Amino acid sequence: MSILITGGLGFIGSHMTAFLLENNFECVVIDNLSNAHINTINQIHKCVPNKSNLLHFHNIDITDYEGVEYVMKKYNIIACIHFAGLKAVGESVDHPLLYYANNITGSLVLLNLLKKYNCKNVIFSSSSTVYGDAKRDNANIIETDNLQPLNPYGKTKMYVENMFLDVSESEKDNWNIDILRYFNPVGAHPSGLLDENPKGEPKNLFPYIIQVIEGKQQKLRIFGDTYLTRDGTGERDYIHVMDLVDAHYASLKDILNRYSKKKPGMYRVFNVGTGKGTTVMEVLKLFEKNIRRDIPMSICSIRSGDIARSVCNVDKIKTELKWEPKYTLNDAIKHTLDSKNRYFK
Ligand code: WQD
Repeated sequence: MSILITGGLGFIGSHMTAFLLENNFECVVIDNLSNAHINTINQIHKCVPNKSNLLHFHNIDITDYEGVEYVMKKYNIIACIHFAGLKAVGESVDHPLLYYANNITGSLVLLNLLKKYNCKNVIFSSSSTVYGDAKRDNANIIETDNLQPLNPYGKTKMYVENMFLDVSESEKDNWNIDILRYFNPVGAHPSGLLDENPKGEPKNLFPYIIQVIEGKQQKLRIFGDTYLTRDGTGERDYIHVMDLVDAHYASLKDILNRYSKKKPGMYRVFNVGTGKGTTVMEVLKLFEKNIRRDIPMSICSIRSGDIARSVCNVDKIKTELKWEPKYTLNDAIKHTLDSKNRYFK
């Protein structure tokens, strides 16, 4: 029995694939390589040697019905972890139709085929951006807070969550669906062999800072310093990618356990973060402390679609899946720097 991992060569997907291989799961990865590199397969094999027989990769776009159906027919897929999707807030504001075409249509194709081939155990990679500016009182965000996404990226995640919910409700007790709302995934595999390696100019903070350190970008543009946070810069809940992968594993084990015991289906939503907020300036200072030199930066105007603060209340996943984060933000920075140094030695 196999696990289908859409977007399985991307930042989080590749770390998840390696983790599942390490735990002897057969992994069927589909990825269109729009924001991933084919060489990541080799890195996964270096990371998890002697498991190449368990990894099957297909260069397929998630919107390609025939392509995804080929995979569904070829393997006995028992569960699907759905990562594939465009994920940059700013880019989604400039190109909304690209985000709707990819994230919505792709999820619709996948859902139709999961239903057709009776694979009803699904984990969906959602995002804290579905909350928008929910918490004006600066409290940490809980799963029952209003969903009011402020940008097309967050809207696509909310719409896809609703697609999963409606399918689940249309077939009471048949589907096991976990929606994981990530806060800000960062860091790299402790081995240094896997990391966030976006194509083109990075949209997110960590990979951008790395490119400034490498000299690929001139300086870090800090998008606004007038927010009502400790130092005026945006505050986020940065979670180590390995902690995020571990949260998926906790969800998968619980879903497969329920499925094997033929328990009634369910639809659950979990925030996945650390519960701690860090500002952009604090992240920058932590990087400078690790590399022992200043990183050039300038204060720019606020980025459209951005909010002041997004920090997670982690109680629900801690209680229901007995999961909690183990790594610190400094671990994420060190692992990110280690992986880059190894790549760029
Ligand atoms: C973080 C902070 C920016 C870049 C992300 C992902 C999305 C989702 C939620 C999972 C903000 C500031 C950034 C830069 C900056 N995760 N910043 N200069 O927008 O919080 O959303 O997490 O699905 O995938 O987009 O992340 O890293 O873009 O921004 O000042 O060059 O850093 O304003 O305060 P964001 P981000």
